[in-house]
Amino acid sequence: MEKQRELITGKAKTVYATDDPDKLIILFRNDTSAFDGEKLEQLDRKGMVNNRFNAFIMQKLEQAGIPTHFEKLLADDEVLVKNLDMIPVECVIRNIASGSIVRRLGVEDGIELNPPTFEFFLKNDALHDPMINDYHIYSFKWATEQEVADMKELTFKVNQVLTKLFADAGLLLVDYKLEFGRYKGKVVLGDEFSPDGCRLWDAKTREKLDKDRFRQGLGGVVEAYEEVASRLGVDLN
Ligand SMILES: Nc1ncnc2c1ncn2[C@@H]1O[C@H](COP(=O)(O)OP(=O)(O)O)[C@@H](O)[C@H]1O
Ligand SMILES: [Mg+2]
Repeated sequence: MEKQRELITGKAKTVYATDDPDKLIILFRNDTSAFDGEKLEQLDRKGMVNNRFNAFIMQKLEQAGIPTHFEKLLADDEVLVKNLDMIPVECVIRNIASGSIVRRLGVEDGIELNPPTFEFFLKNDALHDPMINDYHIYSFKWATEQEVADMKELTFKVNQVLTKLFADAGLLLVDYKLEFGRYKGKVVLGDEFSPDGCRLWDAKTREKLDKDRFRQGLGGVVEAYEEVASRLGVDLN
C-alpha cells in the first residue's frame, strides 16, 4: 500500500491517501493537544502507544460485530483504514460524570450514571465543539435519521463491549468519544479509540489514566497510557 498525498493534518494524526481510493493511511503523531488545541506538547512514544492501543480496541470491537474502519497495522505509528465520509459529530457516552458535564449541569464529579448518558457534539474546534441534539443533526443535514439511530446503537454497543473489557483489567471506563463515517452505504466507526479520547480510572484508587493527566498537568501521561495497555495485554513491542 503506497502512501500518497497528505489529506488532513489534524491535531494528533495525519491522514494520507493511498493508491486505493477506498483506503487511507493514518499516522499517529506524538502531538498532544487539549482545550481545542490551546495546550500543545510532544509526548515521546505517544503516537506508537495510541496506534497500537487503537488497533487492539478496534479489533475487539470488530470481533463483537461492530463495523470499524480498521484494516491493518502498517508500522509502529501507522494504520491502514477504510476511507470514510466522516459525519461531523462526536458521539459521547458517560458512565460516570466527569469533565464538561460536571461544569455544564453542576453535578458532582465521579457519580455513577445509571443508565449511562449519551451526548452529541458538533466537531468544530473554532466553536469549541458545542453540544447539539438529534434535531440539529437533521435540520442541518449532518446525518440522516437512520444514521443517527445507527450511531447511537453502535455507541451503546461499544459501551457493552468496552466497559467489560476495561473492568476485567481493573479499570473504570468513565466516558468516551467516538466518530463515525459512511462507507459503501453503511455507518462505520472511524477515527480512534485511545486514552486521548476517553476517561479511564483505576477501579480501586480512581487514579486517572487518560488524557486528563495532560489537561490537568499531572505528568506521567504516556506512562499511564502504557499502564492501561499492559493491563489489557496490548502488545507495545
Ligand atoms: N477512516 C477515516 N476516513 C476519513 N477520515 C477519517 C477517518 N478516521 C478519522 N478521520 C479524520 O481524520 C482526522 C484525524 O486526525 P485528528 O488529529 O484526530 O484530527 P482532529 O484535530 O480533527 O481531531 C479527523 O479529521 C477525523 O475525522
Ligand atoms: Mg481527533
